[in-house]
Amino acid sequence: MEQAQAPKKKIIFSGVQPTGIMTLGNYLGAIKNWVELQDDYHCVYCIVNQHAITIRQEPSALKKNTLEAYALMLACGIDPERSVTFIQSHVAAHSQLSWVLSCYTQFGELSRMTQFKDKSAKHADNINAGLFTYPVLMAADILLYQADLVPVGIDQKQHLELSRDIALRFNGLYGNVFTVPDGYFPKTGAKIMSLQDPTKKMSKSDENPNAFISILDAKDTIIKKCRRAITDSEAEVAYREGKDGINNLLSIYSAVTGKTIPEAEAEFSGKGYGDFKTAVGEAVADHLAPVREEFNRLMKAPDHLKDCYRQGAEAAERMARRTLEKVYKKIGFLPPM
Ligand code: TRP
Repeated sequence: MEQAQAPKKKIIFSGVQPTGIMTLGNYLGAIKNWVELQDDYHCVYCIVNQHAITIRQEPSALKKNTLEAYALMLACGIDPERSVTFIQSHVAAHSQLSWVLSCYTQFGELSRMTQFKDKSAKHADNINAGLFTYPVLMAADILLYQADLVPVGIDQKQHLELSRDIALRFNGLYGNVFTVPDGYFPKTGAKIMSLQDPTKKMSKSDENPNAFISILDAKDTIIKKCRRAITDSEAEVAYREGKDGINNLLSIYSAVTGKTIPEAEAEFSGKGYGDFKTAVGEAVADHLAPVREEFNRLMKAPDHLKDCYRQGAEAAERMARRTLEKVYKKIGFLPPM
């Protein structure tokens, strides 16, 4: 019997790769939004270690990075009691659905993915099939949980559109099996640029460590990196075209203090770049200090972490199994019992 129910919360799914400690850019551009979304949505957050092996990984580093990425996600404020938080390889349904979906994805579609083209140019010695089918696994991640919304950066937009196309195609053939996901691009999604080349995105794989702030950097390191940030030869803290370095520092300052850009400009009007950069560094360090403390606390409690990701995997598994069973039935896989 149908029962009157409170409107069901929409489902959010997102994933992050365990490839080294996140930068301030990852944090402000992604994880901080994930934290806020927990208030209004049923959130499912995953450390996508299966995606990571499309690029060769050193096994012990992958293992360490996976645990650290998980701990960091919790340290940033993702609450395993409220959200489903787990590690991709712990839920077999991701690989299982991925295979099925790969048979509903065209070679031509995957060939058009710009990330595949970029990555295969960058890793010309290892253009493996996984690198090519990477977006199919991503579609499986999303569709397994019947996600309504998927917060991703602009660089993942094309993959998300492919997930939608696959879902629509499958639904067209078999009826409504999958929720067709929408991208979620937060209005305030601060895009944080490199401190050494402010026309480039801040990246943890930058060979110059001064180009990025790791969210676990010590206070004095953060201040030093901000002080070394490339700016311009004027002496005006103002947000305008042609001042990429200052614009970036203003965006960072605004994101970590909650002040608007005009408020920040007013605060530093008449002051030199040196004072401004130090203030940015201090504000960033103060903002990240609690995250770093919580991360260190969690890393000293491996049993607690294990409990969290085990329970997360169990909850994920229950959701995923329902979808996978439906898919298997629709396509005519003979049930084992
Ligand atoms: N491809 C994403 C990235 O590199 C990570 C990812 C994997 C993901 N599966 C996902 C993101 C599902 C959102 C939803 O950033």
